[in-house]
Amino acid sequence: MLKHALLNRIERKTARVGIIGVGYVGLPLATVFAEAGFHVTGFDVNARRMEALNRGESYIEDVPASKIAHLREAGRLEGTTDFSLLEELDAISICVPTPLRKTRDPDISYIARATDEVARHLRRGQVIVLESTTYPGTTREVILPRLEATGLVAGEDFFLAFSPERVDPGRADWTTRNTPKVIGGLTPACLEVASALYGSAIETVVPVSSTEAAEMVKLLENTFRAVNIGLANEVLLICDKLGLDAWEVIEAAATKPFGFMKFVPGPGLGGHCIPVDPLYLSWRMKMLNYTTRFIELASEINMAMPRYWVQKVQDALNEDGKPVNGSRVLVLGVAYKKDVSDIRESPALDLLLLLMEKGARIAYHDPHVPAFQHDGLEMVSARDLDAALPEADCVVIVTDHSEYDWPAVHRQASLVVDTRATLRQMQGVTA
Ligand SMILES: NC(=O)c1ccc[n+]([C@@H]2O[C@H](COP(=O)([O-])OP(=O)(O)OC[C@H]3O[C@@H](n4cnc5c(N)ncnc54)[C@H](O)[C@@H]3O)[C@@H](O)[C@H]2O)c1
Repeated sequence: MLKHALLNRIERKTARVGIIGVGYVGLPLATVFAEAGFHVTGFDVNARRMEALNRGESYIEDVPASKIAHLREAGRLEGTTDFSLLEELDAISICVPTPLRKTRDPDISYIARATDEVARHLRRGQVIVLESTTYPGTTREVILPRLEATGLVAGEDFFLAFSPERVDPGRADWTTRNTPKVIGGLTPACLEVASALYGSAIETVVPVSSTEAAEMVKLLENTFRAVNIGLANEVLLICDKLGLDAWEVIEAAATKPFGFMKFVPGPGLGGHCIPVDPLYLSWRMKMLNYTTRFIELASEINMAMPRYWVQKVQDALNEDGKPVNGSRVLVLGVAYKKDVSDIRESPALDLLLLLMEKGARIAYHDPHVPAFQHDGLEMVSARDLDAALPEADCVVIVTDHSEYDWPAVHRQASLVVDTRATLRQMQGVTA
């Protein structure tokens, strides 16, 4: 009966939806549910974010303020820091961060804290879905016991599922709404309810047999990327030693119409997901006495890339008769990828720190990142790029933001180390 009542509320869009953690993942998801006709409440510990949301403003680049303002006016979206309101909801999606600890082990404390809030207000007939990327077993081993400690039973009194988010920030063609959504339920009833919920707002739902399978899907996707980027980076190291142009080789290989997928080298891995998520899997597997060799190797190669590029800067300056120590080095782009402002795990940060250690007079320019603080480094973006380019002894291109006029950059700079092969990209040679 409980299940049917909930399914009915979902079908009629009268179910009240809540999103815990309203960031890069949670905010787009909240708007997708609200646009589908649900009333959505965002819960976040960051009061400033919730105040901005309630003023109709956006703080995530992929979500236009006009969309938030419209949904606010329609009375379908609100933000709060008051978790007691969780009790009023029928459906709750948890989208809190899953970073690494300093020891590079998973930090699931955010999930634990959010779940404790849910447990405090859990009532019969609610569906809870974890979206945060995490190791296989988290939903069953971390969330379930906390929720069942209330005396309520999953699959009977409440419903529990895992559905990984696949959003690619900065991307317009594949969004939260049209990217197929994988869902694994703790029981068949949990899967049925969670699929109905997401299926009423998202175009395609892909059910799998368990929460563990759904958790593993996400880790496979991100491991696939980390390993292939690691391979592309190693191809760069190999080609460098052979005196070959890695981009030329990769591009030519990519003309094969089958059996090859193109990945390109770069400054290293960045962002909240690709460098971090595979380590959730390797940590879990260590507990089972298994070493995830591909993950470890890819991580080792990708993490060493900033050092490789610093060596390239050193070599290039050397050819100009200059030591790194005292040279002015301008880094173009510090965001972890093009056209976003996110600097989490960005290889540019490592590059800047390594250059600074060697005594370089470092500066950066990034149209998306006016200033940042990281590991004791506090920097402000150069304001006038036209003035900064010719002043630098070496310009290091790290993030290939669309705003940059690459031929002009290469013309104005006296020395360029280009981790993104930008001129090749302009000729449509590299993706
Ligand atoms: N950013 C991406 O591209 C992306 C893509 C797919 C999956 N993911 C995964 O989604 C999850 C969220 O990532 P994100 O990029 O949206 O993070 P984010 O930092 O942008 O947003 C997380 C939000 O959660 C809030 N928060 C932290 N603890 C909380 C708590 N106890 N209760 C309520 N709110 C809390 C933070 O204040 C923040 O606003 C992570 O597991 C991440 O791996 C991210």
